[in-house]
Amino acid sequence: MVDPHLLRTSWAKVAQHGEQVPLFFYGHLFLSHPEVRSMFPPSMAAQRDRLVAALGAVVANVDNLDAAVPFLQGLGRDHRKFAVEPGHYPAVGASLLATLEQFLGPDWTPAVAESWTEAYGIVAKVMTDAAAVAAESAPPWWEAEVVAHEILGGRRDIARVTIATRLPYPYAAGQSMTLETAMAPARWRFYTPANPPRQDGLIELHIKLIGAVSWQLVNVMGVGDRLRLGPPVGHQLTLASTAPGTDLLMIAGSTGLAPLRAIVEDLARTPDHGRRVTLFYGARIASDLYDLPRLEQLAARHAWLTVIPVVSDDHAWEGRHGLVGDAAAAYGNWPGHEVFIVGSAGMCEHAAARLKEAGVIPGAIHLEESQP
Ligand code: HEM
Repeated sequence: MVDPHLLRTSWAKVAQHGEQVPLFFYGHLFLSHPEVRSMFPPSMAAQRDRLVAALGAVVANVDNLDAAVPFLQGLGRDHRKFAVEPGHYPAVGASLLATLEQFLGPDWTPAVAESWTEAYGIVAKVMTDAAAVAAESAPPWWEAEVVAHEILGGRRDIARVTIATRLPYPYAAGQSMTLETAMAPARWRFYTPANPPRQDGLIELHIKLIGAVSWQLVNVMGVGDRLRLGPPVGHQLTLASTAPGTDLLMIAGSTGLAPLRAIVEDLARTPDHGRRVTLFYGARIASDLYDLPRLEQLAARHAWLTVIPVVSDDHAWEGRHGLVGDAAAAYGNWPGHEVFIVGSAGMCEHAAARLKEAGVIPGAIHLEESQP
């Protein structure tokens, strides 16, 4: 029988051992099942662990299963991109139980063992069932190839990368995806298409040089290089998440522009959508407003679109100065608008706080932090 209280108290005790927990778990998993090693990043430093922390927390909250089912189904579908098969679940389950036993010592009682075994089984079943349904209509990942690669921005640290997928990639404007490059295997990173799905199937990505994977994408990769895409994720920034016809305030910092540009383009090909869109586009220095010319062309063609660039640290800039959140909050009367904010954590937090002060209700704010 699953005893949620036992699960949570025992997990809290295990979690106190910090980095030792993933170290033990991966040691056990890779020794007992070396065939799964290549699914994981080459360096599994404990602070980079994503699986064990989530695994314990997810399983320990199994009593709230109804609320967790959509998340677990998404997780199960997404795990297909790691080449996870149903047969791998018992292996991970056995290593999880061995880890719990190791750190609980005398507290690893038959009742605790039974609770964890059953709870893991429930979670694994939701994930594998969802993966099996997805396998009927979608590949585990989408093979893609770079067809254009352009370096942008005054600091030459932004790339506009256009990719073509071999099979059609079904997504909605505003959704993100994870991708893996052949040069950095098993290191999946989030990016967001900057265009809505197109007839020719091409997808444009805006990539800022921040970590090792983006370094590959900006500085090393070129036309002809291969990528893999995971399934599309997230609904927070899609038009479907807003009431039809509501006006939109969009606030973008740097490459956080990508999903917002995709939504604007989507609207541009939807006749009589009835929305007004005001897009604030912020950067530190003017030359980082890498997509401004194309946005201004769009605004010139569509009266419903207003684009306002804002620059914080560049005295030579002749336009609006300051933080993009301050500029947006001061500019208009936003209650009644749906607000999309995408950028760094600091920018998102600041802009959201300023808009709430300006009377926007929290439920109207759709936020997404660009991945560092
Ligand atoms: C109940 C079972 C499981 C749960 C709740 C679970 C949960 C998670 C979560 C939340 C993540 C982090 C999100 C992500 O990177 O996409 C993750 C990552 C991952 N999982 Fe699972 N998982 C389960 C089973 C498995 C199994 C059976 C395998 C196959 C060996 C597996 C392989 C992986 C891999 C390779 C990663 C990426 C790790 C990384 O990039 O550091 N998972 N899992």
